Amino acid sequence: MYPATTSAPVNETTRKAQENAALSPRFYTTDFEALDRLNVDAVREEWDALLQEFRDDPNKGHFKRNERFEGDWSDLPNRDQFVDFLVSSITAEFSGCILYAEIKKRVKNPDIKELFGHMSRDEGRHAGFINGTLKDLGMGVDLSFLTKEKKYTFFKPKFVFYATYLSEKIGYARYITIYRQLEANPELQFHPIFDWFRDWCNDEFRHGEAFAALMHSNPEYITGRNKLWIRFFLLAVFCTMWVRDHIRRDFYTQMGFDVSEYDLEVFRKTSEISRQCFPVVLDFENPKFVARMNKMVENTRKIEETRRKGGPFQAIRRGALLLSNALTFGRLYIMKAHKNEVPADFQLTPAY
Ligand SMILES: [Fe+2]
Ligand SMILES: [Fe+2]
Repeated sequence: MYPATTSAPVNETTRKAQENAALSPRFYTTDFEALDRLNVDAVREEWDALLQEFRDDPNKGHFKRNERFEGDWSDLPNRDQFVDFLVSSITAEFSGCILYAEIKKRVKNPDIKELFGHMSRDEGRHAGFINGTLKDLGMGVDLSFLTKEKKYTFFKPKFVFYATYLSEKIGYARYITIYRQLEANPELQFHPIFDWFRDWCNDEFRHGEAFAALMHSNPEYITGRNKLWIRFFLLAVFCTMWVRDHIRRDFYTQMGFDVSEYDLEVFRKTSEISRQCFPVVLDFENPKFVARMNKMVENTRKIEETRRKGGPFQAIRRGALLLSNALTFGRLYIMKAHKNEVPADFQLTPAY
């Protein structure tokens, strides 16, 4: 459906955004007919209120760059890690934008069509805004190229729901935690983009509410054997974030965070919110849980080292490290999780 075109030269940042490493955000496609069969009547009142918010578009005028972005940004401290942060954010925003746009285009169900149109609009705006900052740093990503070259992964709708619901809520928690930290410590704010995070994260929060409403209205997604899938996705998303953030720890230190504390705070916020529809909460405060995630960080560092060194011996070593990561993930998966009683009635949580 998205054939790879012969490559024109692309800049380094676009290539980075393209890398299909296990930890990179992916681009998804799904079963559109199954989405047509979704019914939101069980949450109609909340759904209509939420859709009205989308139509009102409270952040319409928010993503405008002003004179604070002007000037020379070439000697930012930890510039490379800042660029990495922006690239992984823009890839996530843009993969949301194209998945949502594709769903809007392909479904007939009017509720779903309208929702995904609004969400795609928001994510496109977010990606464009980040790209403005990347361009200031001489590192703009060619977004149109990305859609042609990126590999697409087919995901059943339920997996799309778990993954996107979580990434919206975790995105909200990440942005607001950074915003509050820099609001309390303005001397640590090294770039104006962080000032945009408060209103920005309300968009992500609202997107998450839409997925929560969809799952509530179609409860087969959050009951029975699907609980095991939910645990799997929670763990995959948490581990990915933990490993990635710990690998670029200096970026968080620079904002006055201890990276582990930052991640745990994001897990806390995300878990508290996800009680609205997920029947389990992971036991991430357990020191064993943290130790196992740290083991994955250590392995991933060594994996990067084997890639840098190259050669057959390093390839074998890499295989062993990947296996160790898979086993560690398995050990985390079988750890006892906390049960959560999902409220029978769906209530919209107001955006922050
Ligand atoms: Fe977004
Ligand atoms: Fe979003």
